[in-house]
Amino acid sequence: MATYLDKPAAVAALIRDDEVHRDVYTHPEIFTLEMRHLWSRAWIYIGHESQVAKPGDYVTVDLAGQPVILIRHADGAVHVLHNRCAHKGAKLLTQACGNTGRFMRCPYHAWSYRTDGSLLGIPLKASYENTRFGDCDAAKGMARVAHVESYRGFVFARLSADGPGFREFFGDSLSSIDNMVDRAPEGELVMAGGALRYLHNCNWKMFIENLNDTMHPMVAHESSAGTAKQLWKDKPADEPKPMAIEQFVPFASDYKFFDDMGVRVFANGHSYTGVNFSIHSKYSAVPEYEAALVARHGEERAHAILREARHNTVYYPSLTIKGAIQAIRVVRPLGPDRTIIESYTFRLKGAPPPLHQRTMTYSRLINSPMSVVGHDDLHAYRSMQEGLASTGNEWVSLHRDFDPAEIGAAERTVRGTSEISMRNQFRAWSQLMAEGMRADAAGTQRQSRELQS
Ligand code: FES
Ligand SMILES: [Fe+2]
Repeated sequence: MATYLDKPAAVAALIRDDEVHRDVYTHPEIFTLEMRHLWSRAWIYIGHESQVAKPGDYVTVDLAGQPVILIRHADGAVHVLHNRCAHKGAKLLTQACGNTGRFMRCPYHAWSYRTDGSLLGIPLKASYENTRFGDCDAAKGMARVAHVESYRGFVFARLSADGPGFREFFGDSLSSIDNMVDRAPEGELVMAGGALRYLHNCNWKMFIENLNDTMHPMVAHESSAGTAKQLWKDKPADEPKPMAIEQFVPFASDYKFFDDMGVRVFANGHSYTGVNFSIHSKYSAVPEYEAALVARHGEERAHAILREARHNTVYYPSLTIKGAIQAIRVVRPLGPDRTIIESYTFRLKGAPPPLHQRTMTYSRLINSPMSVVGHDDLHAYRSMQEGLASTGNEWVSLHRDFDPAEIGAAERTVRGTSEISMRNQFRAWSQLMAEGMRADAAGTQRQSRELQS
């Protein structure tokens, strides 16, 4: 078995312009390096501000394999703290979410912390007098993740001290978040309900690549969406469709439909399908909602917002959103062949109930662990994960519509069935991994020079 730790050249050789080596999906050392470099240098989605609406509200998640807490402080600020007691390292909060009250108390020896992570109290404090405690990191309390940005309520963090800035990293791909939020008549999203967690026995990249893979729906979803299409095919064109039929049937569209949809890629691995229209474009109108949106934005702008019905936007590597249906999925990698996919739904503040009902129906039918469509995808991911154990062919093909001019382009829009989004993700993968490994090597050299001097 090849080894990759501290071998940047071997890691770089896994990615070609139009194909990738199977080890990127299966090798445990690659997964370790991805967490250490790619997931640390990228801006990772942590949670939504509406999940921590009140002081003391928190959510616990992993950031690049490390436990962190998203928490609202007494002054209203939102912080991302390392979920580690400053004493001996116990996790402060072990629930997925909740409210800590005014402070957090460690369950081991009762050190306590304010909701901004600062140290509040230590039992038998006098015992620390005349020690060097005051000079050490523990005296400062819980460590904060230094790089945190909230974009229209979506909170992202970057673990690594160095790496791309937030705007530099996401660029114009943020327009998909804008469109999702602009759809709210009161200009705000509110998370509705908790997470649906769905364990995928596959590498995280299989999920994230699939979100802009438009060559699979008509094949992989034939049994689910195809059945709905069959069921409805003899109905008169003007017969109103039940919501489930309206949501299922477009998955069974032909290659031309997905081609014409278009795909747009941005630097750093981000992309979206549905540049011109999408599977969400033909949902029946909700006149009361449209009137509320027109009242906020005016006729022209309101219709422009609704016309922009993007399919899936990938915020590489951790978040995928469907603005048109107010649903997001979050990638939480656990190991080379284990990934949790979390699904969340939002209410558009100021929108009437049918909008939220549409979101919930979509989530239940398509994304949830009890869904019909999501299982087709999971079956495909698992079969790739098992198939890639084969040494019969070391390479995975991503050749569809490859054009050398796409390399290095800041933004590019092409036909929807291209595999450009996957190649674009792997170019970001290569870059972040190489930068991280370089920074690591420089740090190690510095350390050994310091030890020798
Ligand atoms: S480990 Fe937290 S108080 Fe000791
Ligand atoms: Fe799918």
